[in-house]
Amino acid sequence: MSGTFAFLKSKPIIFMSSVGVALSIGTLLKDNMQGGQFRKAVSANGKVVIVTGSNTGIGKETVRELAKRGAHVYMACRNLSKCEEAREEIVVETKNGHIYCRECDLSSFESIRKFVDEFKKEEKRLDILINNAGVMRCPRAVTKEGIEMQLGVNHMGHFLLTNLLLDLLKKSAPSRIVVVSSLAHTRGEINVTDLNSEKSYDEGKAYNQSKLANVLFTRELAKRLEGTGVTVNALHPGVVDTEIMRHMGIFNNFFSKIIVRPLIWPFLKDAKSGAQTTLYAALDPELDKVSGQYFSDCEPKEVADAGKNDDMAKWLWAVSEKWTKAST
Ligand SMILES: NC(=O)c1ccc[n+]([C@@H]2O[C@H](COP(=O)([O-])OP(=O)(O)OC[C@H]3O[C@@H](n4cnc5c(N)ncnc54)[C@H](OP(=O)(O)O)[C@@H]3O)[C@@H](O)[C@H]2O)c1
Repeated sequence: MSGTFAFLKSKPIIFMSSVGVALSIGTLLKDNMQGGQFRKAVSANGKVVIVTGSNTGIGKETVRELAKRGAHVYMACRNLSKCEEAREEIVVETKNGHIYCRECDLSSFESIRKFVDEFKKEEKRLDILINNAGVMRCPRAVTKEGIEMQLGVNHMGHFLLTNLLLDLLKKSAPSRIVVVSSLAHTRGEINVTDLNSEKSYDEGKAYNQSKLANVLFTRELAKRLEGTGVTVNALHPGVVDTEIMRHMGIFNNFFSKIIVRPLIWPFLKDAKSGAQTTLYAALDPELDKVSGQYFSDCEPKEVADAGKNDDMAKWLWAVSEKWTKAST
């Protein structure tokens, strides 16, 4: 080999060039995977918003964008030191001082009730409630009240929180509730004979069930809220690179970190893109009167048939009301 192609003899140059090409292709692919973006210049100035589970991931990016748009945001988190770290970063970046950390552990009804009591002392209105917090595929564990953790945090905790805040949301109408569900609801089934996974536990099935519960809750609540000026919609944020996979060993061992993660990285949304459909559901003026819908990539999408089952939605509502004692 001579002349122009002599450099091909150099192994380091070939290696570096291959890495460069792979990185460029990866970056192009990643750009393409970011999905619908909410770019409307809608102000959230002075709007009072609660975002659950917002010290990381999609929730944190949702708060960051709401802060940029002037909202007063309550970050409802179980880990106050992580929350404070995120809050400080957002306040410094956005210069919005109306961002607050408040303790709310969705695996404890006592903590949820305390959060709501204190919130109602601080604020006389609530414009947007964003039920974002979630736990995925954890080993079997139960909440303080003995509810299977994924059902307990993803659905029951948010069921109680929302119901306790409905009076304020109605008083503040037009107001919105946003429920961060998942495409996983399409694989979900409500196990009416063993809702609490006591006879058997499969972490994937329990997650899918909890996300279907999010969709059914949205459907039933939308009916109950007709004519009140409060809307409720659910969404899938996309497949997003966050800490949600923390319980999935397959993505967390050494081999995965150096081989699997770099390979799947181009196909994941970043957390900022993962927040876009939430922002769309929370802020887009075209959705002022839209309720009981499901979105993905900042547009309406069909839910699975199981998510349209009105009888199941009613059954789940009744059980949730009983378990959470939401009406007392
Ligand atoms: N990432 C995805 O690909 C994807 C896809 C579909 C749907 N989603 C949904 O998107 C939502 C946000 O998830 P993410 O991807 O941003 O994951 P993440 O980074 O793990 O964020 C989840 C948040 O929920 C909080 N949380 C967990 N248990 C809680 C509890 N008991 N009380 C209060 N907060 C609690 C976590 O707090 P700690 O930091 O204290 O644990 C964290 O702030 C979830 O509902 C998830 O199901 C995500």
